[in-house]
Amino acid sequence: MILYNAQDKTCTLHTRNSTYQMKVWDYHILLHTYYGPRLAGSDDLSYLFRRSDRGFSPNPSEAGGDRTFSLDTFPQEYSTCGVGDYRLPSIELELPSGSRTADLRYIKCEIRRGKYVLEGLPAFHGDEEEWETLRIVLRDAAAQVEVELLYGVLEEYDLITRAVLVRNVGDTAIRLCRCASLCLDFTRADLDFITFNGAHVMERCPSRAPLRPGIQSVDSVRGASSHQHNPFVVLCDKTAGEDCGLCYGAMLLYSGNFQAAAERDQFENARLVMGLNPYHFTWTLEPGAVFTAPEAAMVCSPAGFGQMSRQFHRAIRKNLIRDPWADRRKPVLINHWEATEADFTADRLVDIAREAPELGLELFVMDDGWFGRRNDDNAGLGDWLVNEEKLPGGLEALVERIKALGMEFGIWIEPEMVNEDSELYRAHPDWTLNVPGRKSSRGRNQLVLDFSRGDVRDHIYGQIKAVLSSADISYVKWDMNRSLTEVWSAALPAGRQGEVYHRYVLGVYEFAERMRRDFPHILIEGCAGGGGRFDGGMLYYTPQIWCSDNTDAVDRLRIQYGTSFCYPVSTMGAHVSAVPNGCTGRVTPMETRGVVAMSGTFGYEMDLSKCTPEEKEIIRRQAAIFKEHYDLIQDGDYYRLSDPFQNGRFTAWEHVSHDRREALVSLVTGQFHGAPPFLALQIRGLDPALRYRVNGGGTLYGGDVLMRAGYPLPILPGDYQGMQLYIQAEDEQV
Ligand code: GLA
Repeated sequence: MILYNAQDKTCTLHTRNSTYQMKVWDYHILLHTYYGPRLAGSDDLSYLFRRSDRGFSPNPSEAGGDRTFSLDTFPQEYSTCGVGDYRLPSIELELPSGSRTADLRYIKCEIRRGKYVLEGLPAFHGDEEEWETLRIVLRDAAAQVEVELLYGVLEEYDLITRAVLVRNVGDTAIRLCRCASLCLDFTRADLDFITFNGAHVMERCPSRAPLRPGIQSVDSVRGASSHQHNPFVVLCDKTAGEDCGLCYGAMLLYSGNFQAAAERDQFENARLVMGLNPYHFTWTLEPGAVFTAPEAAMVCSPAGFGQMSRQFHRAIRKNLIRDPWADRRKPVLINHWEATEADFTADRLVDIAREAPELGLELFVMDDGWFGRRNDDNAGLGDWLVNEEKLPGGLEALVERIKALGMEFGIWIEPEMVNEDSELYRAHPDWTLNVPGRKSSRGRNQLVLDFSRGDVRDHIYGQIKAVLSSADISYVKWDMNRSLTEVWSAALPAGRQGEVYHRYVLGVYEFAERMRRDFPHILIEGCAGGGGRFDGGMLYYTPQIWCSDNTDAVDRLRIQYGTSFCYPVSTMGAHVSAVPNGCTGRVTPMETRGVVAMSGTFGYEMDLSKCTPEEKEIIRRQAAIFKEHYDLIQDGDYYRLSDPFQNGRFTAWEHVSHDRREALVSLVTGQFHGAPPFLALQIRGLDPALRYRVNGGGTLYGGDVLMRAGYPLPILPGDYQGMQLYIQAEDEQV
């Protein structure tokens, strides 16, 4: 619910469990007055602000002799630049004079049902009844610039989305040098800042630290959202945990250079600013032109991280993932990459796939190596033509063989990349991102195509479209295997090179949208060397993303744990692979690998023809369990029951059905040591008034009992043992 109070000049946004408020204050300056647990009414919360003359905090000229009003001391709704607020700016304009200031004053606001739309950018979506939109117009009179702040309120899921439009309403071109999507001021600074960090093959590990004076930030300057930092952060009470404490999650729906910065200021206030990374960013706005900053989304949970995550999960599943994949059942797949890499023939692939349907696997994915002269990762990218030496009779022949086995077929592509050893590069060496006079850096021995250019995208799209149209393909894995360097585009003049990083991402989105439009039935899995572009932006186009190139079950416990703070299980690509694991060399039981991968999109990544009969039996059983509990796992509420970074004894998590009648608890033990303690696991999310059976056993336990007293864990000798508890309610009431 959005309420505008004309008398107080406040705008109050209520979600189910949170309230957000801003107020037009003196001199038409828009202040942020509150974001926190839901308030019953919409009282003006500016009574909290105190005016005082603070040294070295300037006063706007309209204040005359009043030295008690300063932009530097009040919480701002969207911070400006160079006019008296010395904290993190949200916007920076370069005017024809060369000045770099921005001074925004409130003009008007408008409330309507439904959700705003962002042209060419990913955004949450949904019905008129679900959403309300608040549009606020601010103006910088001297710069002749209007800034629209857009807010979408998805009440049910406590989600508030934000986007920013900057319009040049003057008659000379100006430059935007910074344009954040979210600015969030707090009148307190005793907060912890949690970010999700890592590296290729170890993504999204949480790091939590108290806000210290000054600015702390995470970002990406790699052209993709990156393995190293994720565009999702949390600010929270120092005491916040899974089930308690106030926390604020903020995600940016963006797949390129981002920045999430938190500042603790001199007066013990905090500010979070999140959006496009100002690094190497400028955007020229001709008269009349509009720039749209990517969407950000926030959830405030007064009851800890668990509730925050579950609200993000619901919103992402229902209001970010688009049809048909929001509801359609996704197949259990088998991918041959870890078994063969690029060294395969059609016969070898068919050998791997042959027994898969009988084991319950539904889709075969042909990974990298099927095109051009791609026999290893040094050649072929850019030539999206089937290599008939490997696949005699072409793609159609192979697809027919796979389909004849009773499986669907999927294919790997990496459209943004080119090898120098390719027909494409020989014909168009100028199509890559490269700086005149410099030699381009290679990453995995490949160069990056200039996806900011429509002509380059059209050419690649033509090839990919021909491939996807040539056979019955139901899945695409879209990869991106290096970071950007030498970011310069031959298609833009010198003064606009600061636009290339962002135009590249817009190009990726445009390409993805075309694929979606032309092949709506194809399930696209995003991938960037695993989880290098795992963000809300990509999820709008690719309903699942390969979580990590690290498929080791023990490391995956950590990676999937961190990922789950924002992203639902249904978006996390996870497979069972062979042991010793190719990445870590670790040997884990097959049961354990299944338990871990099942809390993802689920599939296999191994040579089935080499599996023992016992292993095949386990696969059959795992696929059956996954299918039986598909809705519970993919659509249920997710509870983290332990933290794998803290608890060496076990990692446990749980999926609970919406009606709380069913739950699936998964658990993986750590290294086994002598004299193990007897442990009981407190189950979460059950109905205290119902009685439950565990794994079909004879005993009935009260929901309250399982949640408070817990369920006794068996002693499982051996390292990294996996187990599951299926908990189901009986009809009888306690
Ligand atoms: C990336 C992906 C892998 C695989 C290879 C193929 O690393 O993450 O899963 O597809 O590329 O080259």
